[in-house]
Amino acid sequence: KRTAILISGRGSNMTALIAAAADPAYPAEIVGVISDKADAAGLGIAAARGVPVQVVARGDFASKEAHDAAIDKALTKLGAEIVALAGYMRLLTTPFVEKWQGRMINIHPALLPLFKGLDSHKRALEAGMRVHGCTVHFVTPEMDDGPIIAQAAVPVMLGDDEAALSARVLKAEHRLYPMALRLVAEGKARMENGRVTLSGFV
Ligand code: GRF
Repeated sequence: KRTAILISGRGSNMTALIAAAADPAYPAEIVGVISDKADAAGLGIAAARGVPVQVVARGDFASKEAHDAAIDKALTKLGAEIVALAGYMRLLTTPFVEKWQGRMINIHPALLPLFKGLDSHKRALEAGMRVHGCTVHFVTPEMDDGPIIAQAAVPVMLGDDEAALSARVLKAEHRLYPMALRLVAEGKARMENGRVTLSGFV
């Protein structure tokens, strides 16, 4: 399946997806990376791996709607069938989300529905969690709220600070996201009536 990735920054999850898709047996092909930030480090990484990149900056558009319409146009031009958000730091407008619903996924660095939004690691530590993790979910208009495709848990160790915990979660993200995209690209994880249907497991 032709897959486009939306980023805003570092792009380490993007890199993990590009690496997985380098295997010809992998069911998703990364056809392009779009960033809303011209200085996103991920852009250089994707370009170096031969993936077409483009910047669609919010500042070039009069409204959120116009910005999302430009992203939608870029996705259509790429022939994208799946959209993977990987550290895309903007809430997408409802018409855009509805158009791509069931075909757009996101990774969040927490075990949803806990710790939606920013600073999830800090908040997990503050809450005294003994486990933490990451979630890949279908995107719905509410932030970090869509049906869950896959999750990975990691332990919270004594003495963890935000940096140590986020590094442990990030490693899990890099394993989880390619696995979850595989399920979606193979049609084994589907969104139906607001829920995830998993099928085809042996
Ligand atoms: C990741 O922790 C991801 O879960 C969150 O933002 C971070 C992006 O990191 N949505 P990267 O750009 O993939 O390195």
